[in-house]
Amino acid sequence: MTRMLVTGGAGFIGSNFVHYTVKHKPDYDITVIDKLTYAGNTANLQPVADKITFVEGDICNAELMDKLVAETDIVVHFAAESHNDNSLRNPWPFVETNVIGTYTILEAIRKHGKRLHHISTDEVFGDLELDDPNRFTEDTPYNPSSPYSSTKASSDMLVRAWIRSFGIKATISNCSNNYGPYQHIEKFIPRQITNILSDIKPKLYGTGEQVRDWIHVDDHNSAVHLILEKGELGETYIIGADNDHVNNKMVIELICELMGKGKDWYEHVNDRPGHDMRYAMDSSKLRRELGWQPQYTDNQTGMRDGLMQTIEWYREHEDWWKAQKEAVEAAYAKQGQ
Ligand code: NAD
Ligand code: TYD
Repeated sequence: MTRMLVTGGAGFIGSNFVHYTVKHKPDYDITVIDKLTYAGNTANLQPVADKITFVEGDICNAELMDKLVAETDIVVHFAAESHNDNSLRNPWPFVETNVIGTYTILEAIRKHGKRLHHISTDEVFGDLELDDPNRFTEDTPYNPSSPYSSTKASSDMLVRAWIRSFGIKATISNCSNNYGPYQHIEKFIPRQITNILSDIKPKLYGTGEQVRDWIHVDDHNSAVHLILEKGELGETYIIGADNDHVNNKMVIELICELMGKGKDWYEHVNDRPGHDMRYAMDSSKLRRELGWQPQYTDNQTGMRDGLMQTIEWYREHEDWWKAQKEAVEAAYAKQGQ
């Protein structure tokens, strides 16, 4: 058995990663460390609770991270403050967890000589103009826009420096926007699905021309496993499913259609300050060198199957999201969103 420490494993992508690993890669002995912030939920791990070890704790706690890293073979680092809108309200937790937390993990990795995979985002590259045909590659210079993306960029830079200066065994991946089960309902797609399930009209920021290169969370996680198995140490891999032709308006219209509402059963609300226009990922290195392929694809929007599965999940798991709905919508309402 290979021992694997998953940071942030009670959050959206981390918990899906744990489910995916238990199902497809039974050779891993998994420990999750999670602070259980508002975004972490032990219910996300309930279906696999008897197959993993769960530790409630903070990645900024150097003593705890030293102990946990000493006891593992691999660290997969998902833990982060992850929501742009929250980073505009209060940046400090983003600096603390994303920068100091990653530093704390790196120091433990360096001391104990363990393998690290660092999970990052396309948002470190800033955004593209709508008519810019370019996509982000592993060589695109960093140009983050928000406290969220700038602290993720900082964490990537720390990992790169620890690779170069101290020779730690690490890889990095930058993935585009994920969707799927267990995503917090403050995020775009689950917010709109649970709005419709609550008989509230979906909310589109501004004109909805912005483009996110959406990927199903299982496709993200299959790529992370491939990098763990075949990735070259010290390398960065871009992960994306080629959905950079789909804008927010198209996504909201598709959700309305799939949920049996009129295509225009949504309303426009205040735009996000400094709203990034377009993200687009060129994942050809990952496809060419490691042979990765996303599973959730279709030739119209690339999202129909994945969205139907996600809508079904939220429909069947009202007990998972219902209690938070009112507070999430009240926070958005204060900003006219
Ligand atoms: P999330 O907010 O759903 O989950 C984050 C988890 O980290 C939560 O369980 C939270 O409790 C935990 N956490 C936060 N601070 C912590 C701390 N100090 N110590 C221990 N645990 C802590 O986020 P997510 O959407 O699952 O994102 C996971 C990772 O993937 C992040 O690094 C994010 O930057 C990256 N990412 C996300 C997306 C996306 O679309 N959601 C896309 C690309 C990359
Ligand atoms: P979000 O899920 O917050 O992810 P990110 O900020 O990391 O891209 O938002 C995705 C896109 O959807 C972004 O362009 C903002 C937009 N959006 C809306 O139009 N309405 C909403 O209610 C939310 C939460 C986001």
